[in-house]
Amino acid sequence: MTKTILRALAGETLPTPPIWMMRQAGRYLPEYRATRAQAGDFLSLCYNPELAAEVTLQPIRRYGFDAAILFADILLLPQALGADLWFVTGEGPRLSTITSDAEFDRLGRGEMIHDTLNPIYETVRILSRELPEETTLIGFAGAPWTVATYMIAGRGTPDQGPAHALKAENRALFEKIIDRLTEATIDYLSAQVEAGAEVVKLFDSWAGSLEGEDFTRYALEPARIITQELKARHPGLPVIVFPRQAGQGYVGFHQATGADCVAVDDSVTPEWAAEHVQVDGCVQGNLASSHMVTGGQALVDETRRVVKAFSKGPHIFNLGHGITPDADPENVRLMVDTVREGA
Ligand code: CP3
Repeated sequence: MTKTILRALAGETLPTPPIWMMRQAGRYLPEYRATRAQAGDFLSLCYNPELAAEVTLQPIRRYGFDAAILFADILLLPQALGADLWFVTGEGPRLSTITSDAEFDRLGRGEMIHDTLNPIYETVRILSRELPEETTLIGFAGAPWTVATYMIAGRGTPDQGPAHALKAENRALFEKIIDRLTEATIDYLSAQVEAGAEVVKLFDSWAGSLEGEDFTRYALEPARIITQELKARHPGLPVIVFPRQAGQGYVGFHQATGADCVAVDDSVTPEWAAEHVQVDGCVQGNLASSHMVTGGQALVDETRRVVKAFSKGPHIFNLGHGITPDADPENVRLMVDTVREGA
């Protein structure tokens, strides 16, 4: 096994951590903006296998990252289940809402998603042919809770209020949505693996807004079911989970879910995460993405700090969240060079 990401995921402590970056194919790159313009809009880019593969490869060519992440979006799955989805420029995603049993009943089941998502699997197949042999291909999906927050509200919300309200007012319907998404996510990720994804990552961007028992039931438990079922279908498949802003909830997440790697955001320090999370297995993270905007010596110092804090165990270097459109591509270069020169 020579791919560095796979070695870290298997629990190996490497002298230099492998590196990739959330949202590495994105608007901070001029070549991404050009290909997106060629596709017309963001969703047309996602569903165009040639162009989606092209934007996935762009950051690999530019920086030689150790992993490529499939170019797609977590909201394609609700669309494949029958929700309407569109993006409003400058504002973000919009979906038809689900707040009643009648609206839920209009959704399809897991098996029907492939009709819509076949172009995504084609992107994966192209990438598994075209990626350099040392680069690992990561597939992904949104975690049920995070996807549900968008489906229930019909858009992104600062506090996930509508999803919390439905959970309080109609728990049976809320749980039907979580269960349907859990089932569909397994089918979606499984198809990505069959097409050539070597690792899968589950993004639970809003896990931090679930507290106590809710965190266990709606963040941890779906991640456990998805991880276990994928590993049963694809023995040896490495799984990365990202319960963003989980705080204390990160502790024990490896064992409770069976995931190979827990990605941590930058609301916890790397020293804390090394002591409380990396003790249980590989961690991924967690440089603040704002350094990709501000750069300079602070970027170098904080990059070295993250590398050093995680140097005694398996680690995949990454940001704490996705890179933002106002980031400077030269700062990404500086981060990659700093990680690779050794701290
Ligand atoms: O990381 C990668 O490079 C892989 C591709 C990827 C995208 N979205 C592409 C994208 C991944 C893994 C995602 C995940 C995603 N999508 C999440 C979870 C991770 C996170 O960031 O918390 C969420 C919550 C979404 C939903 C979504 N998609 C939002 C809220 C937005 C932002 C809308 C905006 O205009 O900024 C998107 C759009 C999106 N997804 C973009 C990209 C590159 C920007 C689209 C563009 O080109 O205009």
